[in-house]
Amino acid sequence: MTLGEALCSAAHALAAVSGEDAHFETKLLLQHILAVSTAQLYSEPERVLTSEKVEAFRQLIRRRLRREPVSYILGSCEFYGNEFCVDSRAFIPRPETELLVEKAVEFSCNYLDDATPPSRRPILIADVGTGTGAIAISLALALPQVKIYATDISASAIEVAKLNCERHNVSNQVILLQGNLLEPLPEPVDLIVANLPYIEDSELAKLSPEISNFEPLLALAGGGDGLDKMRQLLGQASGKIYPDGCIFLEVGQGQAEALTPLVSSYFPEASVKLASDLSEISRLAKITLPASS
Ligand SMILES: C[S@@+](CC[C@H](N)C(=O)[O-])C[C@H]1O[C@@H](n2cnc3c(N)ncnc32)[C@H](O)[C@@H]1O
Repeated sequence: MTLGEALCSAAHALAAVSGEDAHFETKLLLQHILAVSTAQLYSEPERVLTSEKVEAFRQLIRRRLRREPVSYILGSCEFYGNEFCVDSRAFIPRPETELLVEKAVEFSCNYLDDATPPSRRPILIADVGTGTGAIAISLALALPQVKIYATDISASAIEVAKLNCERHNVSNQVILLQGNLLEPLPEPVDLIVANLPYIEDSELAKLSPEISNFEPLLALAGGGDGLDKMRQLLGQASGKIYPDGCIFLEVGQGQAEALTPLVSSYFPEASVKLASDLSEISRLAKITLPASS
């Protein structure tokens, strides 16, 4: 079988599960097997594949036909310009979460500039429900001067986050802690960021097989209104964050409005500002605590 034939036949087969992404996904899987660039892939359509490569490629296509996400098959995904290891032990980081990282970097830079006199300790950040560690590690790479506690209740997710910290050389800057939300934090922080599970119970059965059959339920289920974990986090936050600190919470579509009164019930003087993702969905709540809270 030639490279061109492999691309064509597999893209045709994958169309049933991947729709318009079939060709792109086929290309990624074939590149993974052959360890070649996109340019090489398209410049040698007549190249004949060995039977081992054909069989290895077919196995990947079979996995995808069983609806396994491409990132799990490849064992990696891209987030905020960096590559992260990922497998079924941890949630696959989503592009919309890059907004949270972008806003947290912006906040931290302003916080550093505004400190008068300049603070002698590093800015402390907590990434709650870290999964692969993608948020914590992206922050560590963008802000070498901050220290980050990254918590997750899942021991398996923490294992993946550890691999990623080693891969990106930030094991000294990102401290991984297994436990419930903010409970494992050894000291208060200036900034809390969290992309916690926010799928409402009634929506769980409607998820695609890629999500429901492969990603950890612990990373998805957010309770009746999807806000259970955020409610618990807000309930724990007092004493875990410095006065005039900030909390960034990613929320699901349609949840931002319900979050504002929820925040007020825990922090009546806090201000809540919403930011939208590229699809104009209110995706992020920035909760600024008053100086005295
Ligand atoms: C939606 S995933 C997000 C993972 C990662 N932050 C990201 O954006 O790619 C939610 C994560 O929260 C973790 N989690 C769920 N309940 C938790 C709890 N009570 N305490 C800490 N982490 C929790 C899950 O294990 C999962 O890794």
